Amino acid sequence: MENCQSLYSKKSFWLGKLFSLAGVVPLGLYVIVHLYQNLRSLSGAEAFDQHLAESRSFPLIVPITILVIWIPIVFHGLYGLFGIKKTRANLMQFPYFENLKYTIQRLSGIGLLIFIPAHIYKTRIEPTLSQSSLNFHHMSEALNEPLTLGVYLLGVLGVAFHLANGFWQFSIGWGLVRTERGMRRMQFISYGVFVALLTLGYGAIWGFYRAHA
Ligand code: HEM
Repeated sequence: MENCQSLYSKKSFWLGKLFSLAGVVPLGLYVIVHLYQNLRSLSGAEAFDQHLAESRSFPLIVPITILVIWIPIVFHGLYGLFGIKKTRANLMQFPYFENLKYTIQRLSGIGLLIFIPAHIYKTRIEPTLSQSSLNFHHMSEALNEPLTLGVYLLGVLGVAFHLANGFWQFSIGWGLVRTERGMRRMQFISYGVFVALLTLGYGAIWGFYRAHA
């Protein structure tokens, strides 16, 4: 019985580690590259459309997308929704602030599970249904609809928080920082990640928005 229990907790320990790794390494890197690439919107329609065509014609794009995006998103999303136990953050000296961040982490995760399908609808399904193609003009029109603009502003805010705070949790969970000083430093780095992601995402939205406004 004891062996069974320790096997179970070992399994959930490693699943938890994998959950955190999947959120930061493939998904985190993908989001940074994705937002950065969408900054092309600031260079105008031609530059953006050319970049989109190039990235779509990249060899092996389909298996890479499945491996780097879809498998980690499904695993991280499902585990985050159903598998994670109600744990408490490692409270050092900002217990209320840590608890607040922990709650926002969960809320932003749920928000992303709504934002991502809405985003896939806008970028993939809607152009197919209307027999048009996804390009700068499509994104620019979409981001001038108040509802879509609101969803994207909140979605980028959610992803910036979720990833920056997830990075901080990952660094503790994986033992990258152990001392109080190291943790405080890592917390400041995570604030920087939050601001950098917001800047990239809102910059990209602004590039599409202003072209049509
Ligand atoms: C400024 C905000 C964003 C803009 C302007 C944007 C734009 C785009 C565009 C144009 C595509 C289509 C690419 C293609 O068909 O080749 C796309 C796909 C996608 N985006 Fe975003 N995106 C934004 C934010 C996000 C965020 C925050 C996430 C993730 C959490 C995300 C996840 C995805 C995913 C998973 C796909 C589908 C990838 C695929 O199957 O090829 N995006 N996005």
